[in-house]
Amino acid sequence: MFRFLTPARLSAAIVAGAVLAAALPAAAAGDAAAGKAVFTAQCAVCHSAAKGAKPILGPTLFGVVGRKTATMPGFAYSPAMKAAGGVWTSDRLSTYIAAPAKTLPGVRMTYGGLKNPAQLQNLIAYLNTLK
Ligand code: HEC
Repeated sequence: MFRFLTPARLSAAIVAGAVLAAALPAAAAGDAAAGKAVFTAQCAVCHSAAKGAKPILGPTLFGVVGRKTATMPGFAYSPAMKAAGGVWTSDRLSTYIAAPAKTLPGVRMTYGGLKNPAQLQNLIAYLNTLK
């Protein structure tokens, strides 16, 4: 199966792969298309993914990666979410979505948490595309 991979081609492939990996943010490791399906099944009932969309039960998640917590205009956040502070990074989103109530006690997001690590990684990759 690797008969076309001469050592020269192999090292070229490794260099290309390394360049590509360096260019991508760490969070892009997941499969965004699969993550969109997770979003549709688990989040879309309460969150839109569209720019400027009105809140459903929760604020739109368009542009959430890199956004300061609790800053979507026109959404009435809980005191707990307002007090959280900081910015939504991929890592922070992973921790939060895996266990919302445990990570930020008192938030009004009635969602039990996404326990499947592959689904979580794919979902984060999808959230990174919402910009
Ligand atoms: C039952 C409705 C519901 C579901 C399902 C839900 N959320 Fe939420 N979400 C909310 C609400 C309500 C808030 C605001 C919480 C607060 O202010 O305490 C929120 C807040 C958030 C925030 C913070 C947004 C900001 O502007 O700071 C993120 C991120 C988030 N949700 C991600 C998700 C993801 C990803 C999923 C799917 C895995 C999901 N939520 C599922 C209702 C929901």
